[in-house]
Amino acid sequence: MKEPSRKIVVMTGASGGIGKALALRFSEEGVSLHLIGRNRGSLELLGVPPSPPSSSMHYYQSDLTKDKDLIALEETLKTNLDHIDVLIHCAGALILGRMENSLVNDLDEQYRINVRAPYALTKALLPLMKSSKGQIVFINSSIWQQARAGISQYASTKYALKAIADSVRDEVNADGIRVLSVYLGRTATPMQEVVHNKEGLSYHPEYLIQPDDVATIVFNILTLPRTSEVTDIHIRPMKKAPVGR
Ligand SMILES: NC(=O)c1ccc[n+]([C@@H]2O[C@H](COP(=O)([O-])OP(=O)(O)OC[C@H]3O[C@@H](n4cnc5c(N)ncnc54)[C@H](OP(=O)(O)O)[C@@H]3O)[C@@H](O)[C@H]2O)c1
Repeated sequence: MKEPSRKIVVMTGASGGIGKALALRFSEEGVSLHLIGRNRGSLELLGVPPSPPSSSMHYYQSDLTKDKDLIALEETLKTNLDHIDVLIHCAGALILGRMENSLVNDLDEQYRINVRAPYALTKALLPLMKSSKGQIVFINSSIWQQARAGISQYASTKYALKAIADSVRDEVNADGIRVLSVYLGRTATPMQEVVHNKEGLSYHPEYLIQPDDVATIVFNILTLPRTSEVTDIHIRPMKKAPVGR
C-alpha cells in the first residue's frame, strides 16, 4: 500500500548500533520509517516507539549479500513506496586479518555488503528519489584515509564506497538530490566491541564516538536549507582511550 503523505526514510543496518540511533532520531519526527536487517525479530526488538503517533515503522528482512533477497527487497520497496525522501546506507561488516592469513572469501563478503549492496539499492531506488529531491547518506569510515595493518579488506571497501558516493553525487545533483558521506572514527557499537577484542584492547565505549551523536549530526545536516549541500563529514572521538590490554 502506498504512503503518499509523510516523509519516507529507508535505512539499512537499522538493527546495528548506529542504525538504531538513527532510527530512534527519525522516529521522533513523524516520518514513515522503512528499516532493513537480516533478522526481522531483532529489528522489531529495536523498541523504536512510533512517537509521535504519526510515525510509522515498517520492517524488511533481507540479507543484502544475497541477490535473491536484494532483488525482492527492491521490488517490495518499489511496490510499497511512491517516493523516498531519505535513503541511509548503514549496514556494514568488518573482518580483520593480515593479508597473509586472510580469506579471500571474507573480502567478497565485505564487498557485497559494504559496496555492492549500497550501489545496487541506490541504483534501484533513484527513480523514487527524483520527484522528492531526496537525500542519500552513506555511512562510511575514516579508515580509508590511512589503512593500518590488518584492515586492508574493510578499508578497500570503504574507499570504494567513497568513490560511489562522489560519483553518484555528480550525477544526481542536477535532479536536486543531495549525497552525504559520513566518515566515522571508532564509534561505540557492537562492531567496535568485536574490533577491540580482536585487537586485544580493553573496550571503553565512553571514549568513543556515541551513536546518538552521529544520529543528531546526520539529522541536522539533512534538515539544512536546500540552498547548499554538505558532501562529506568527518567525525572522530574527542578523548584518547587509555592504552590497556
Ligand atoms: N562502529 C564503528 O566504529 C564504525 C566506524 C566507522 C564506520 N562504521 C560503519 O557504520 C555502519 C554501522 O556499523 P555499526 O557500528 O552500527 O555496526 P553493527 O552494530 O555491527 O551493525 C551492523 C549493521 O549492519 C547490518 N548487516 C550486516 N551484514 C548484513 C547483511 N549481510 N545484510 C543486511 N544487513 C547486514 C546488521 O544487521 P543484522 O541485524 O542483520 O546483523 C547491523 O544492522 C557500518 O557501515 C560500519 O562500517 C562503524
